[in-house]
Amino acid sequence: MDIHILTLFPGMFQGPFAESIVRRAADQGLVSIALHQIRDYTTDKHHTVDDYSYGGGPGMVMKPEPVFAAVEDVRSQAGAALPVILLTPQGRLFSQGIADELAKLPGFILLCGHYEGVDERVHRHLASDEISIGDYVLTGGELPAMVLVDAVVRLLPGAVGSPESLAEDSLRQGVLQYPLYTRPADFRGWKVPEVLVSGNHQEVARWRRRQALVRTRRRRPDLLVKTELTLAEHRWLESQLSGAPGIEID
Ligand code: ADE
Repeated sequence: MDIHILTLFPGMFQGPFAESIVRRAADQGLVSIALHQIRDYTTDKHHTVDDYSYGGGPGMVMKPEPVFAAVEDVRSQAGAALPVILLTPQGRLFSQGIADELAKLPGFILLCGHYEGVDERVHRHLASDEISIGDYVLTGGELPAMVLVDAVVRLLPGAVGSPESLAEDSLRQGVLQYPLYTRPADFRGWKVPEVLVSGNHQEVARWRRRQALVRTRRRRPDLLVKTELTLAEHRWLESQLSGAPGIEID
C-alpha cells in the first residue's frame, strides 16, 4: 500500500511512524509512507501557503494553488489517480468500518489542513473523501492522519502477529472490548474472575461476550443499535437492565 501525506509539518510524523507496528509494516514492505511538504509547491518568493479569508473573519485559510500542485505532482509520480482524503472536522466520522474500507485500497493521499481551514475549492474539486476523527477541533490534520494511518496499517495482511486478533477487534463486532486479565491471578486481593482460569473455553467465550454487551450497554448504548444480538443475548441484557436476580455482571 502506498500512502502519501501532504502536510506543512512533516516533522510531526517522525516519532509515531518510527515505532511499533507501522514501523515494522514499513520495514517489511507492506506499506510505504511518503511525506510531502506542501510549502515546496509554492511559487512565490515568500512560499506563502495561507491568506486572509474572503468576507473577513478570524484566522488564515490555506491557499488552493500549492495544495492542487502537490496532489497533481504526487499523482503523476505515482502514475495513478490515488484518492485524496482531506482530514477535516467537517468530514464523515472515522470508524473501524472506514479503516476496513481504506485497508483494501492500493493507496491514497492524505491531505492535512491547517490554520482556520482550507479553501473550499480543495474540498469541492480535489478531495474525494473528507474524514474527521471526532467532534473536536485540533490544530491541524496531522494527528488525525497519524490516527488513520495507524488504524489502517495494522489491518494490512502480515502487519500484526496474530491475524485472529483483528477479527476479535471489539468495535468490528459493534461492541466494546471485554475485560482482559493477565498474571498474577491475585493482585492486591483483586482476583481474576474464576471462569477465566476454569479452562472451559465455551464458558470463557460466553462470559466475554456478556461482559462486552453489558459494558457496551452502559457506556456506549449507541453502538448496540447496530449490533446483532441473538434472542438469548437480548433477553440476558434485558434481565441485567431490569435488575433481574441470578446473574452477576462483574
Ligand atoms: N483537523 C482539525 N480537527 C480535526 C478533526 N477532529 N478531524 C480531522 N481533521 C481535523
